[in-house]
Amino acid sequence: MEAVIFVGVQGSGKTSFYRDRFFDTHVRISLDMLRTRRREETLLAACLKAKQPFVIDNTNPLPDDRARYVGRARAAGFRVVGYFFETSLEQAIRRNQQRHGKKRIPVPGVAGTFRKLQPPTLAEGFDALYTVTISAGETFVTRSGSLLHSQAET
Ligand SMILES: Nc1ncnc2c1ncn2[C@@H]1O[C@H](COP(=O)(O)OP(=O)(O)O)[C@@H](O)[C@H]1O
Ligand SMILES: [Mg+2]
Repeated sequence: MEAVIFVGVQGSGKTSFYRDRFFDTHVRISLDMLRTRRREETLLAACLKAKQPFVIDNTNPLPDDRARYVGRARAAGFRVVGYFFETSLEQAIRRNQQRHGKKRIPVPGVAGTFRKLQPPTLAEGFDALYTVTISAGETFVTRSGSLLHSQAET
């Protein structure tokens, strides 16, 4: 039983990574798709009750954004895992420009999220943290730990 919480700016590859790694096993809970917190709550509560693994596919830039899921998932007996999508602002803006219509976020929106983003730490209650980057070959690379956390530890 695993709850996965994504952290990363718009265009950092979260939804693509979900399709790659979690599509067959985890329900996707995304505010982009669900639109309202009320609908998100309905789906989240159902997953917790059913002990159904899920992924929270939001930008979740601040500890408070993550806290709304971490405590409840732990209380329901889930292992809580965070994935931090590490990217430069330039890369995120470039990937975001490749998108079409409403999926394309205005640049100030991406920059605003980038500025306030705080990488997740184990102190928030995660059982494990991973950092995801997109390599030159455009494949996802996952490593253990969250960059700032390991820097803070040393
Ligand atoms: N591994 C990858 N290599 C190259 N481009 C990617 C990769 N993952 C995602 N992209 C592209 O980057 C853009 C944003 O990806 P997306 O998964 O929608 O990000 P997010 O969900 O974090 O906003 C999309 O246009 C997508 O096609
Ligand atoms: Mg997305």
